[in-house]
Amino acid sequence: MYKEVAQKLFSFVKGSPTPFHVVQNISDTLEGEGFERLKEGSAWNIRPGGKYYVTRNGSSILAFKTGTQLENYSFHIAASHSDSPTFKLKENAQIDIKGKYTVLNTEGYGGMLCSTWFDRPLSLAGRVIVKEGNRLVSRLLNIDRDLLMIPSLAIHMNREVNEKQSLNKQKDMLPVCSGRTMDADALKNMVAEELGAEAKQIYGTDLYLYNREEPSIWGAEDEFISCPKLDDLECAYASLQGFLQGGNSETVSVYACFDNEEVGSGTKQGAASTFLCEVLTRVNAAMGKSPEELSRALASSFMLSCDNAHAVHPNYPEKTDVCNCVYMNEGIVIKSHAGQKYTSDAMSIALFKTICEKAGVPVQFFANRSDMNGGSTLGNIAMSQVSVNTVDIGLAQLAMHSSFETAGIKDAAYLVQASEAFFNSHICETDAGVYEVKNG
Ligand code: CO
Repeated sequence: MYKEVAQKLFSFVKGSPTPFHVVQNISDTLEGEGFERLKEGSAWNIRPGGKYYVTRNGSSILAFKTGTQLENYSFHIAASHSDSPTFKLKENAQIDIKGKYTVLNTEGYGGMLCSTWFDRPLSLAGRVIVKEGNRLVSRLLNIDRDLLMIPSLAIHMNREVNEKQSLNKQKDMLPVCSGRTMDADALKNMVAEELGAEAKQIYGTDLYLYNREEPSIWGAEDEFISCPKLDDLECAYASLQGFLQGGNSETVSVYACFDNEEVGSGTKQGAASTFLCEVLTRVNAAMGKSPEELSRALASSFMLSCDNAHAVHPNYPEKTDVCNCVYMNEGIVIKSHAGQKYTSDAMSIALFKTICEKAGVPVQFFANRSDMNGGSTLGNIAMSQVSVNTVDIGLAQLAMHSSFETAGIKDAAYLVQASEAFFNSHICETDAGVYEVKNG
């Protein structure tokens, strides 16, 4: 069962080299499940018991299912992110090296581990704006072959590399594309050809490097999985399955996957944007409900902010907290932070533990060492727009922000189960400071 989930996760990751592909992939799944596409620019007609989704920028997506008994409804939201650290191609990208190579000019996107991008087959993917007459059409691009490589410098030319290595993104990280000087328009022509368009029709590009290494199940008992982008596609995939399988007649189930978490979420489609707030407001209004009823719904609403967590590293066990440290294959990680970079608090943890207990899913607790700053995530950022009870959770992994990350084979399946149980339940604020978890 775990291997099957892992294989499905792998094929999701392989089909999702950029956030644009993630959203296309999720949209295709939703269409297959009978979800109806809504456009932000059109009027919404929403029925009880309906299934809908809406995208923004082609790189963030919100899907929702409306219950059938929504007198005292609430939103149950599972949120994750669609982006991962990588390198973005600059507009003028071709650099000639001594007439013998062409390398591509890139800049960093997010906080990647640079060394993990060396010596492995890479390619380019993203979205391209193609001009067709008066229309500017967004098209997905994935050059599906081994196109690029960032070769290491030989140890003979850098004897101290194993003692100290500092990597400069403008000097050390540029991928080789060709063994000769490419024509000025060669890259544009390649992109156009892939899309069946002409180079002069290419008006804009958001193109990124991606790692083409094959995913792997490994370990003495096949207990580990490794592939690109586990942060956060493992959560994006697993919570989507839970969302599709679960549901409750008294709630509106919401699946959210936001772009730009790795660069602070502050974009028009990021978790800090108005996207979620506007969609929930419109759903409420389209069901013929008042702003007052929206406020009531939000008071009982609950969000899972799903983003991966650091497992104890076997070679660096001292880097994690003494007793709030987590391991792969041991269940969902609940993250806490006194300064509220993680949104979890006593009540949201208690609610989530109740749900996991019923579902028979193990949980474990993570906190950073008190003398270390951890990463941030999307939960507390989303709170400035939509303020609801939220718990920060994730799946334990190693090598976060490597181009090839490692996780436990069981944990994605645990999150499918836990998020399904979450969507099946109905959380109600029955009195001030009193919540009840009912099953649908
Ligand atoms: Co993440």
